[in-house]
Amino acid sequence: MELVIVIVGVVLGVFLLSALTGAPYVPTLRKDSQRVFREVLRSDDVLVDIGSGDGAAMVAALEAGVQRAVGYEINPMLCAISRLRLWRLRRRLRPEQRSSVYWRNAWQVTFPPDTTVFYAFTVARDAQRLHSLVQQFATQHRRTVRLISYGFAMPGREGKLVGPMWIYEVTPQAQ
Ligand SMILES: C[S@@+](CC[C@H](N)C(=O)[O-])C[C@H]1O[C@@H](n2cnc3c(N)ncnc32)[C@H](O)[C@@H]1O
Repeated sequence: MELVIVIVGVVLGVFLLSALTGAPYVPTLRKDSQRVFREVLRSDDVLVDIGSGDGAAMVAALEAGVQRAVGYEINPMLCAISRLRLWRLRRRLRPEQRSSVYWRNAWQVTFPPDTTVFYAFTVARDAQRLHSLVQQFATQHRRTVRLISYGFAMPGREGKLVGPMWIYEVTPQAQ
């Protein structure tokens, strides 16, 4: 009995600590990702999910046809679950489609240089920080990238609303 309590305590602790660094774990609704991703993603896209959770959005992006999906997730249990989901998905993908999930703090990583789309389902308080992160990437790589935000708009930025997702074209800043 004590062992069960310890295990439950550890699991709850990991989820609670993860939520303190950003958004708590809530997966993107499949009906929303299916609808929007099929409309806005392309087969040559490389999508980064900032806080990839159980891989729900990555799975939907790969099903919509992106070339590669890369996730960064702070909760090791969710990393393990998403890796399993993506491994099981591989048979249904084109041979050249790839995915990887990293157990990392997404605010502290160097994103793949060929990223074309950033996806985030986070909390409103991180909106500005998120946009700055993507802007920094666009400026560093001197090209426009897209930012898809599920559920909330970036204050002061002009985006397009597709279903429940906001789509932004983030252009490089003059240096
Ligand atoms: C709302 S969920 C979204 C999950 C997934 N992107 C989806 O749409 O299904 C947010 C996820 O971000 C993770 N997270 C929170 N802060 C993080 C951070 N600093 N670095 C990486 N992941 C983080 C949480 O553990 C959680 O799984």
